[in-house]
Amino acid sequence: MRIVDGVSRSLNEFLLHPNLTGENCTPENIDLSAPLVRHRADGQSPVRVALPLVSAIMEAVSSPEMAIALAQAGGLSFIHQNQPVAREADDVRTVKQHKAGFRHSDLNVKPSATLGEVSELLRGAGQDVAVVTSDGTGDGVFLGLIRKDDFFLGRHPADLPVSERMRPAADLVTAGPSISLQDANTLLWDQRLDVLPVVREDGRLAALVLRRDYLLHKRFASESVDGEKRFLVGAGINTRDYEDRVPALVAAGADLLCTDSSDGYSVWQERTLKFIAARYPEVHCGAGNVIDGRGFRFLAAAGAAFVKVGIGGGSICTTRAQKGIGRGQATALIDVIRERDAYARETGWYVPVCCDGGVATEKEMSVALALGADFIMLGRVFAGTRESPSRKVTIDGKVFKEYWGEGSRRAQNAARYGQGEEDLAFPEGVDGLVPYTGSLHDNLPVTIAKIKATMVSCGATTLRAFHETAVLEPVPDATASQNGAQVMMRDRVAAAAAS
Ligand code: IMP
Repeated sequence: MRIVDGVSRSLNEFLLHPNLTGENCTPENIDLSAPLVRHRADGQSPVRVALPLVSAIMEAVSSPEMAIALAQAGGLSFIHQNQPVAREADDVRTVKQHKAGFRHSDLNVKPSATLGEVSELLRGAGQDVAVVTSDGTGDGVFLGLIRKDDFFLGRHPADLPVSERMRPAADLVTAGPSISLQDANTLLWDQRLDVLPVVREDGRLAALVLRRDYLLHKRFASESVDGEKRFLVGAGINTRDYEDRVPALVAAGADLLCTDSSDGYSVWQERTLKFIAARYPEVHCGAGNVIDGRGFRFLAAAGAAFVKVGIGGGSICTTRAQKGIGRGQATALIDVIRERDAYARETGWYVPVCCDGGVATEKEMSVALALGADFIMLGRVFAGTRESPSRKVTIDGKVFKEYWGEGSRRAQNAARYGQGEEDLAFPEGVDGLVPYTGSLHDNLPVTIAKIKATMVSCGATTLRAFHETAVLEPVPDATASQNGAQVMMRDRVAAAAAS
């Protein structure tokens, strides 16, 4: 038995001190780009992202839609592994079909589909327009577009075929397959289009260019893309069926893999990493989760591309209560980061660290980055957005999204928890709700602005400089109690008075 001295601290227990802010340390000059995979300590990581945020390997969080939306904003998603191999590979393929600027069409109908069906489809996807193709697929012969405002159920019968109300291809501006993105965008603006279909010589749909994507590109600037401009996407794997799952995911085009486990300090992870290193030396696979330097060194030595830190802090997690396993996230990070830096000095290899679980606010994100995390994995924060795959639920006029843990009865993700072979003997997570926060693309600019503002105060223009120069201090409860507003909020007083 060994007792670790010291206090196991959470991210929320820290505050940052300002450092001297230089003339060039302004939000426009702050570079939030981060390395995702191992690299020579004096070199560049082969996979970097402009935004150090990735979405959790969870069914309620990371769908192809989330992966595309997050990659557009400069981050990255990990498709979850608690599903059959073929389905996960399909999800990866769906993301890889999308090139920045040129999208594969996801919302397609046959001309014989009814207005009722298309209305349902548009509502479910939260979109305004669907594509009509001969066979209802994204690469069928392009026949036209049908928009939300092309029909009104009540005026137009729900069983009327789409062909009666669609805008036929002959009346639409389209482009040939060789058009450049620049020319396509010019056409969008010159012709006042929202959607430009790109059509092959044989009439089949090749891609869509969307005004929305152009605006997003201007807003976020650095999408996460591969050499062919396809969005980057990660995929979760487990330590049981990796011999089947890894080849399928690699064939589908996954850019990164990550073992998905509540406790990564195990020979199973080592075996999985060694299998990948032997069969697919060019594939990057992260591992975790660990909470101390021993766990980090074990996984780094086994070849992990990055190491994920955090046990028990997740918002849907009950591992600490059920098993007594875990550690305050800040203390875990401090220990692991120390080991990461020692490992880099000793071996010349820098293995990035991902802070995973229990991060809900920008303040916690900034503290995690200041402590040395290279990037942050978020579940709850992204689960609440429009792009997450879970259902919206309205209770007493308030809108929520469903969010459940991979260790909950609902997910039954037995491969993530080493409890036995098939089923979970007891849950390590809950099935809950989080407030609906709207589009990821409306939330992220605020998040980015807050992190950058913190870095400005701390006088750091890069994450590396932030790691090296940040000054943090744990604060007692009495100090923390003054972190928020100290007066009654006007809107709440008004609401209470009115009720
Ligand atoms: P959040 O960002 O606080 O919601 O935490 C998300 C993280 O919690 C995930 O990335 C996982 O590491 C972890 N996690 C996911 N499902 C469960 C669960 O059921 N029990 C414990 N931890 C979980």
